[in-house]
Amino acid sequence: MPKHHYSILVDAYYRRDIYRLVTFQAQPKIAGPTMVETQSKRQKEHYERIHDEYTSHYYDDESLAYRRQYILEPMFEGLNLDGKKVADLMCGNGLNSMEVMRLFPGAEVSGFDISSLACDAYRESLKRPAYELDLTQEMEPVDLFDVVMVIGGLHHCVTDIPRTLENVAKMLKPDGLFLMMEPNANYVLEPIRTVWYQRDAFFDAETEHALKHDSILELAAPHFALSDVNYFGGPAYFLVQQSLIFRLPKRIKTLITPPLLLIERFFNRLPGRMSFAYFVARWRRVDERP
Ligand SMILES: C[S@@+](CC[C@H](N)C(=O)[O-])C[C@H]1O[C@@H](n2cnc3c(N)ncnc32)[C@H](O)[C@@H]1O
Repeated sequence: MPKHHYSILVDAYYRRDIYRLVTFQAQPKIAGPTMVETQSKRQKEHYERIHDEYTSHYYDDESLAYRRQYILEPMFEGLNLDGKKVADLMCGNGLNSMEVMRLFPGAEVSGFDISSLACDAYRESLKRPAYELDLTQEMEPVDLFDVVMVIGGLHHCVTDIPRTLENVAKMLKPDGLFLMMEPNANYVLEPIRTVWYQRDAFFDAETEHALKHDSILELAAPHFALSDVNYFGGPAYFLVQQSLIFRLPKRIKTLITPPLLLIERFFNRLPGRMSFAYFVARWRRVDERP
């Protein structure tokens, strides 16, 4: 599938041309590997290729401090996951699941990721199951969960967001919670981020794009209702949490993290959604079984 067809797809999605998006996915299969199979393979290879560098930057102490304060704290605020079955989608090495187990020792976590390296690391460090699969493909749930969480993962599924959301709904018990943190496409610097995704080898621009919260909620409407959504992310999000893509030397990162974490607290008090790089949303499953 030529590259410009993906751009048309993504453009259509961002113009809320949902019907076009769905029609595109209904195209018949052609002989040989389908577009989706090719993407799955490329996506899997991509994440296995960047696995070590991703791990070294995103899971160090500074990024963990950012993650705890500005992603997990708002995501879990007021919730008690003890005794709950929690699915961690696009789980990577399982750092978020580890945090769930630290905060809620009675939670039962399971990981899901397209990368076999990530799943191996998850099983190894958490001694919990990890399932290797592509969330954009049709699937039968391995279990029913009270909570499904995804941190920086849905935006890797723009080739088939409706199917991905359908898969999430299938995995959740009725009234279950879907927690997510994703890059915000309403961000004022989004045009720069889009070019960045296209130019930088750490991204797979054809399968990832920032998301508009309200558009994906509209797509998910038969299955989910909004509990709350909040927008975050200023200088520390990029220079601490995303230090990999700035190729920031670790020594400098360690030095600048404390003041940046402080500044982030004030930055996050700005009004609106356009100033912020990502959103944290909590949805509740409201339908009967799909
Ligand atoms: C940006 S990383 C986020 C990892 C982890 N959630 C975190 O917070 O660090 C995205 C993860 O999504 C996985 N992934 C990408 N596309 C996927 C797909 N279609 N199905 C399942 N996992 C996918 C990648 O292998 C990678 O581990």
